Amino acid sequence: MEEKIITSNQPEAPAKKKRIFSAIQPSGQMTLGNYLGAIRNWVEMQDEFDCVYATANLHAITVRQDPKKLKENTVNLFALLIASGVDPEKSIFFHQSQVAAHAELAWVLETYTQFGELSRMTQFKDKSARHADNINAGLFTYPSLMAADILLYQADMVPVGEDQRQHLELTRDIAERFNGIYGKTFVVPEAYIKKNAARVRNLLDPSKKMSKSDPNTKSFILMTDEPATIMKKFRSAVTDSEASVRYAEGKDGINNLMEIYSACTGKSYEQIEDEFRGKGYGDFKTAVGESVVAVLEPIQIRYKELLSDKKHLEELARNGAASAERIARRTIEKVYKKVGLVR
Ligand code: TRP
Repeated sequence: MEEKIITSNQPEAPAKKKRIFSAIQPSGQMTLGNYLGAIRNWVEMQDEFDCVYATANLHAITVRQDPKKLKENTVNLFALLIASGVDPEKSIFFHQSQVAAHAELAWVLETYTQFGELSRMTQFKDKSARHADNINAGLFTYPSLMAADILLYQADMVPVGEDQRQHLELTRDIAERFNGIYGKTFVVPEAYIKKNAARVRNLLDPSKKMSKSDPNTKSFILMTDEPATIMKKFRSAVTDSEASVRYAEGKDGINNLMEIYSACTGKSYEQIEDEFRGKGYGDFKTAVGESVVAVLEPIQIRYKELLSDKKHLEELARNGAASAERIARRTIEKVYKKVGLVR
């Protein structure tokens, strides 16, 4: 209880916890991979750190969006994360577009980001290849906006997967560059190595990451998949011809299922091997499916409840945004003053 009094909703309180910032783009459905690799980690970090979380909807418009769909995806993501355990009482949680300082700081930071640096970003290269008809300036300067997200809150740490590591490196370079010119303005953020993030693979081709953009829907589990669908998808997951549940090289399908089962039950690989010694893959797949349903079903129930009260969701986001705004304002005022921008 005492913990609650000094949490992040009151940035003025003498909380000396390290601050974390993270955001997720509202790009549609979330997969089991997103949950076990990132979302669950957001939930866990709340007890140890002062967390600021956002839906990254300003980032999402770097690829063309249907306005209605974008809004719906954004609200759904917000609800899904709360259903997963992101707690607005413990953390600051809001929509990026609600706090104008993100766009304001992004503009300033763009002028401290070099064309050459942005040209080297692998995500830009990938995305511009995939959206060749819309290589807009925002897609190019996306990393400066991401730097603004992080630096606005003076975050000490950012939990990053492989795909965002390069962006965090650039954020650090921008922060150091700005601090070098104007004196200490920004905390230079570190990468936070996630404690227990599972790397969930494609169920039909475990050489690939699980991704909702895969054309075969049997290759991924959505967080909102019905229990029966989840069971069916696990039944069709690829395995191998050895018929022995053990973690080993060359057994990518089984390794992936073991990783998922371990993440959902807390059992070690050794315990899993013992549990299924002498049993077939059918039994194992059923157990994996059931463990996933046990994790996702309660989230799905809360998610539906939350979505049935849009007003409440709006209020939660508005409150989160107000808390975010208080921190962000301080940073933006400091930056404008240093750069010599008239207020
Ligand atoms: N670019 C991140 C992604 O696509 C989302 C994001 C936006 C983010 N701003 C951030 C992640 C700040 C960490 C910190 O996954």
